Amino acid sequence: MRIYVDHAASTPMFAEAKSAVEQQLSATGNPSSLHADGRQVKDRIDRAREQCSQAAGCLFGEFYFTSGGTESVVLALAGSALNSPNGRNRVLLGAADHHSVVESQAMLNKLGMQVQFVPANRDGSLDLNALESMIGDDVRLVSVLATNNETGAVTDVNQAAEIAHKSGALLLCDAVQAWPQVLPEADLIVVSAHKMGGPVGVGGLITQNGTKLEPLAAGGGQERELRGGTENAMGIVGFGAAAAEAALRADEISSVKRSAAEHFRDRLDGAAFTLDQASPAGIVHFRYPGISAESLLIRLDHEGVSASSGAACSSGSIEPSHVLMAAGLSEEEAAEGLRVSFGWCSTVGEAEKAAQIISSSAAQIRQV
Ligand SMILES: Cc1ncc(COP(=O)(O)O)c(C=O)c1O
Repeated sequence: MRIYVDHAASTPMFAEAKSAVEQQLSATGNPSSLHADGRQVKDRIDRAREQCSQAAGCLFGEFYFTSGGTESVVLALAGSALNSPNGRNRVLLGAADHHSVVESQAMLNKLGMQVQFVPANRDGSLDLNALESMIGDDVRLVSVLATNNETGAVTDVNQAAEIAHKSGALLLCDAVQAWPQVLPEADLIVVSAHKMGGPVGVGGLITQNGTKLEPLAAGGGQERELRGGTENAMGIVGFGAAAAEAALRADEISSVKRSAAEHFRDRLDGAAFTLDQASPAGIVHFRYPGISAESLLIRLDHEGVSASSGAACSSGSIEPSHVLMAAGLSEEEAAEGLRVSFGWCSTVGEAEKAAQIISSSAAQIRQV
């Protein structure tokens, strides 16, 4: 039996989400059609929007479906740059934000925005003092990552919102690793289904405080004219069912993740941890000084443990993680960083076994 400790990359679907997807799989009908088949699909999408907005604590009309976290980020960044009022042409992105944010710099430049990066603290959270000193009346948007996907560090999003709002800037919060536990006071909130028990390829963008965006895909009128294109009904109904389940079991799931992460940390020998305590999101980031993450991951895969060296999107690339570099690690240290992450179906037994295999694998590599 393999041990899967890479839930921050993608977590298994809840049974409820699977059965919602299966039910939709055999349905036919375009939700924009006026006939009964189309209306049935439209009703299911409405139900899913209700489930997602209730889980998030926002209004029904504030929740837009997209193809995932990455698209939601791009829609928020480009959509707000395109309708930026005169004189607001600066965007502040977190230096340790997800790739989808950080690598949007070139696109924002092409849209006439000047991009600056807000430094990170040693744990990968956003340096709010630096944000305070960088904010100004020419800032259109500030981006903040609620829970860092590599280190698990948490940023106080409400404090970031206060700083951004004082200068009339919008706050974009990437809550992909935090939702549905946290609904911050942000104007734009990014969520993704496959990180919390829903299917891959569907996500959401929540727009609060009356925030308006310029659509990137016009035509068709779907998603209240913000995102044209026939809806991914299968993904959406699966997302809705997963959101309802995750909200219902939020406390239980948090404690499952936390307890697995704590037991894992307690059993891991000889590692240096990035965070002092287990992250509420069940992410544990650590390194074995002198052992490259790549060599340890290869051995772990062979031993039946699926872990990660950081963001899933950058695995396989030899570039050092921009998150760890932003958090002040040297290139050499960054190349040693490993991430283990727990999810709704993790167990303490699995966490302890993973810690034991990782500790012994590191010891064996040292002996070679
Ligand atoms: C913090 C964060 N933001 C955004 C994304 C992108 O989400 P998706 O995979 O749905 O495009 C990820 C996925 O790794 C993530 O961890």
